Amino acid sequence: MRHTALVTGASSGIGLAIARELARVGVDVVLVARDEGRLREVAASLDTGTEVLAADLLTHEGLEAVAERVALPDRPIDILVSNAGFGLAAPFHESSIEDERRLHELLSFVPLRLAHAALPGMRARGRGWILTVASFAAFIPYGSYSASKAHAVNLSRSIRSRYAGDGIRATALCPGFVHTEFHERMGIDEDGPDWMWASAEDIARKGVRGLRRNQPVVHSNLAFAAIAKGLQLVPDTWQGSLINSYRD
Ligand SMILES: NC(=O)c1ccc[n+]([C@@H]2O[C@H](COP(=O)([O-])OP(=O)(O)OC[C@H]3O[C@@H](n4cnc5c(N)ncnc54)[C@H](OP(=O)(O)O)[C@@H]3O)[C@@H](O)[C@H]2O)c1
Repeated sequence: MRHTALVTGASSGIGLAIARELARVGVDVVLVARDEGRLREVAASLDTGTEVLAADLLTHEGLEAVAERVALPDRPIDILVSNAGFGLAAPFHESSIEDERRLHELLSFVPLRLAHAALPGMRARGRGWILTVASFAAFIPYGSYSASKAHAVNLSRSIRSRYAGDGIRATALCPGFVHTEFHERMGIDEDGPDWMWASAEDIARKGVRGLRRNQPVVHSNLAFAAIAKGLQLVPDTWQGSLINSYRD
């Protein structure tokens, strides 16, 4: 049976790589992002069934149009990939509250809204997969970005535990640093030791594999997985000083 996935943020970076990986394993894809021209180029490059849905997920109309497509009963979405996102360069006390609202909405509310749209149909069909691109930041005290990503991870885990009996699987993909347009869009350099960095293709492969294997959380590599576990034993103040010393 052929499946269809909807991928948000499919015009670049991790979302584009996930769309490619899904196409490679024979899944049709609905591509969502704001830049319609780029989405059309992506669609033309994929050897699978494609649909382009240009939408700004930070507008009510854009988000509801995508939610409507997710819930459409006659063209079911079997796999929902909530990936679209961005980061803020300014520290929390200096960023504008409008930027904070946009960040929180795109990283926390949009995945919630789309999962809410997807679940009734998935439950009725007795199957469905939800892949949420969160971040390793979800496991550290790293500003409002990490708070939004922690929300995304916990939502994914909650959906997974509540709806497993309905045939629904949910995986939170939690990469460390990934070479994409993310840092350039924030206006900061790609920085840090090599082991912390991965390619979008590698992360996409691990995310799709994790979803197939029904893994709750997928990290970039074993080092990040071990650090996420180990940090649970480290007081927040120590973690905070470590992160701040790295950042400054
Ligand atoms: N790169 C990293 O180091 C890293 C690490 C951990 C987690 N992540 C997470 O990975 C996810 C993907 O980021 P990326 O690294 O692949 O960055 P990216 O290359 O900048 O891609 C971001 C994607 O999100 C889309 N997008 C942004 N705002 C949108 C909006 N308002 N409505 C619809 N689409 C929107 C962008 O497309 P348009 O501009 O065409 O709309 C683009 O396709 C994000 O959730 C990010 O937090 C990234």
